[in-house]
Amino acid sequence: MDSLAKNIKEVVSLKSGVTRLTLTDFRNYAFLRVNPGLRPVVITGENGSGKTNILEAISFLTPGRGLRSAKLADIRRVTPAVIDESYLPGNTSWAVSAIVSKNGEEFEIGTAVEKNIRETEEESRHFDRRIVKINGQKGSSQSELGQYLSAIWLTPQMDRLFRGGSQPRRSFLDRLVYAFDTEHAKRTSTFEHLYKQWYQLIKSTNGRADANWLLSLEESMSAAGVAIAAARREQIARLNRFIESAPDDVFPDVQMELDGTIEQMLDTLPAVEVEDYYRHKLAEQRKNVLYNDNIDGVNRSDFKVYYKKKRMPAELCSTGEQKSLLVSIILAQTKCQIVNQGFAPVLLLDEVCAHLDDGKKEALLSKIRELDLQAFITATNPEIFSAFNGYAEFWEIKNNTIISHD
Ligand SMILES: Nc1ncnc2c1ncn2[C@@H]1O[C@H](COP(=O)(O)OP(=O)(O)OP(=O)(O)O)[C@@H](O)[C@H]1O
Ligand SMILES: [Mg+2]
Repeated sequence: MDSLAKNIKEVVSLKSGVTRLTLTDFRNYAFLRVNPGLRPVVITGENGSGKTNILEAISFLTPGRGLRSAKLADIRRVTPAVIDESYLPGNTSWAVSAIVSKNGEEFEIGTAVEKNIRETEEESRHFDRRIVKINGQKGSSQSELGQYLSAIWLTPQMDRLFRGGSQPRRSFLDRLVYAFDTEHAKRTSTFEHLYKQWYQLIKSTNGRADANWLLSLEESMSAAGVAIAAARREQIARLNRFIESAPDDVFPDVQMELDGTIEQMLDTLPAVEVEDYYRHKLAEQRKNVLYNDNIDGVNRSDFKVYYKKKRMPAELCSTGEQKSLLVSIILAQTKCQIVNQGFAPVLLLDEVCAHLDDGKKEALLSKIRELDLQAFITATNPEIFSAFNGYAEFWEIKNNTIISHD
């Protein structure tokens, strides 16, 4: 066994993941409690039975907006009664809580959406706020969740990741960073918040906002922005190095790059100088807000992926190749996280076999088995997972409950 495989084995044998999951008024589940083991779980059921919703619930135990990037208000279980009563006031509108194990140590973590009571449904939606709880105490920010659980997901929506606009690629990359740098989640949400404030201030005053106020926002934005750019660069370099040193035998080698003014300046200039540049650039771009023009900066950087051997940008690769590139990235991230962070992420794989040829499907399953970590894998047809018989847990969803077939 080579040293990487040995290293991974040692960490993974300690086991991390979710050992109890409780959903309350989450999507199609009024109440659901399951106690998964720290190994793969294959979730099957008809279309619309609630497979993806379980993965989404677990994704909410990590920082960010979950694997569907959903609006908080859309997640609360909708029933005809609730629709009729138009969002009755209450404390929380939905919740996901869990007992997680991190290398054998157990923690209770959870997230819920607190409803702020407003007269109309529109307003109450506006004030929904996500809170987190760790061992019974309210946490100060979502980024704290990252210390107890890490999740990496692959969903059918991501099949279009390389073809569409850059925003989902940036979010994907930022999530890869969270696992190594829990502060990154705070940084990205701070930047987003400041950016909105700055944009609205310029718009609402038609460019005549208080100059000191604008300057102070620009100063904070450039500081957060440069920290974001630096963390993204570091993660890409780490993964590129990892892939170079431990290439996969089935899934293609990828080369990752960042295409962004601020990220590229960090190649040659110290962070303080880039910060100065960014601050001036933001001030210069105030007029772009009024003309609805683009604002350059870390909010526009793109995450570029190449199929290394073919020297082909991912957006020009075939559907199956694009899926394989994503699998390569998440496998590298998983191993890199295990080796460097000392705890394994949970894999959330939604219909992951779609677009993969038989050889790759089999290879993916045997790689998951080799890694021996917790993975939640959905499928409409359990037959492709027959190799997991006697190893994985098999859950079938029927009428919003789970029937377990071990
Ligand atoms: N807020 C909500 N309240 C109640 N039900 C919801 C809510 N949001 C989504 N649903 C329903 O949850 C059901 C399960 O959705 P989910 O995406 O988990 O299905 P799935 O098993 O993954 O299906 P597929 O095989 O088609 O991917 C759907 O019928 C959907 O309409
Ligand atoms: Mg689904």
